[in-house]
Amino acid sequence: MEVRKNVSLKEYNTFAIEARADFLIEISEEQQLDEFFASEYKDGKYMFIGDGSNLLFVQDYKGCLVKMQTKGITSQKIADNKILVKAKAGENWDDFVRYCIEKGWNGLENLALIPGKVGSTPVQNIGAYGREVKDFITKVFAYEIATGQRVVFSNEQCKFGYRDSTFKNEKKGRYVITEVEYCLSLNNEVNVQYEDIQKCLQATQQTASPKLVYEIVAQIRRQKLPDVKILGNAGSFFKNPIIPRQQYEELLRQYPLKCYPISDTLCKVPAAQLITLAGWKGYREGSVGVHTNQALVLVNYGGATGQEIKNLAEKIQKDVKKRYHVNIEMEVNLI
Ligand code: EPU
Repeated sequence: MEVRKNVSLKEYNTFAIEARADFLIEISEEQQLDEFFASEYKDGKYMFIGDGSNLLFVQDYKGCLVKMQTKGITSQKIADNKILVKAKAGENWDDFVRYCIEKGWNGLENLALIPGKVGSTPVQNIGAYGREVKDFITKVFAYEIATGQRVVFSNEQCKFGYRDSTFKNEKKGRYVITEVEYCLSLNNEVNVQYEDIQKCLQATQQTASPKLVYEIVAQIRRQKLPDVKILGNAGSFFKNPIIPRQQYEELLRQYPLKCYPISDTLCKVPAAQLITLAGWKGYREGSVGVHTNQALVLVNYGGATGQEIKNLAEKIQKDVKKRYHVNIEMEVNLI
């Protein structure tokens, strides 16, 4: 287990914030978890990270960051049209999705090009284009920090919700996710209900296949979301708020706001639309700003501090609250 000291975090967070960590360890074999939890580093502050695609460092990290780099994919066919696929926490999510599609293991194509690692997918139940990873996860394998035991969680035990799971709540900080099992399909059915996919599909005039859906989603994402290699960002900075239908109807009298029903009384409204209506889309202040193509994304134009991004986020939250009486919660974790 190699321990690096006083490490620049620029390469370890997709916002490309130049904070530093006292220590950084990369775990490439699961046995190293025992080594880590037997070391002095577990006594100070520590945190497990993947690719840092949902983190904002607002200060230097006074402790030890542990990056999961374990690799490996195994599979087991369980029926004519179903296969269980297990991937280690350190596998890159998009590489894994593409590997599955190449093998004819289908379902994850709507989740194309999401930055991050397999081990982070259950934590915030990543979702896009009509699918959430909870629709596929059958088991989450973890290391229990208190005992050093291996434990397994069923889909139900993960208590998945919109960008939410037990790993962000009651079980936060108590487990290290080591492997995730997904149940995928061996036939070519696809989910193309999402409006943006429908439109692109009609334009191609081709029959939908998992591979085509992957390509369409990748194309939509490339148009809307800035490439983290070029412009630091963490995808959607805010969650889409869920508000009472009645409040939505009142807002609709004044603003051309969209709504996606969640239940008879609740609906989800696009935070991007509220932020755009409030005039923030494309706003720039020094090295931080709101992306020109997607108002949910805050960007680092180069050299920004985490604090500057946080300040901008808070200004936007306050303004949206003042104008529309809607709270838009941050999706990104402030560290
Ligand atoms: N919507 C539907 N059905 C549709 C079209 C849109 O339910 O057919 C809903 C979406 O669920 C969302 C809203 O309408 O509530 C706006 O959709 P839009 O495509 O504009 O996406 P967005 O709100 O900008 C969300 C996710 C993205 C994800 C896209 C595509 C959040 C915070 N963001 O963004 O996730 O890629 O939908 O599904 O939910 C991320 O989490 O970092 C991220 C990029």
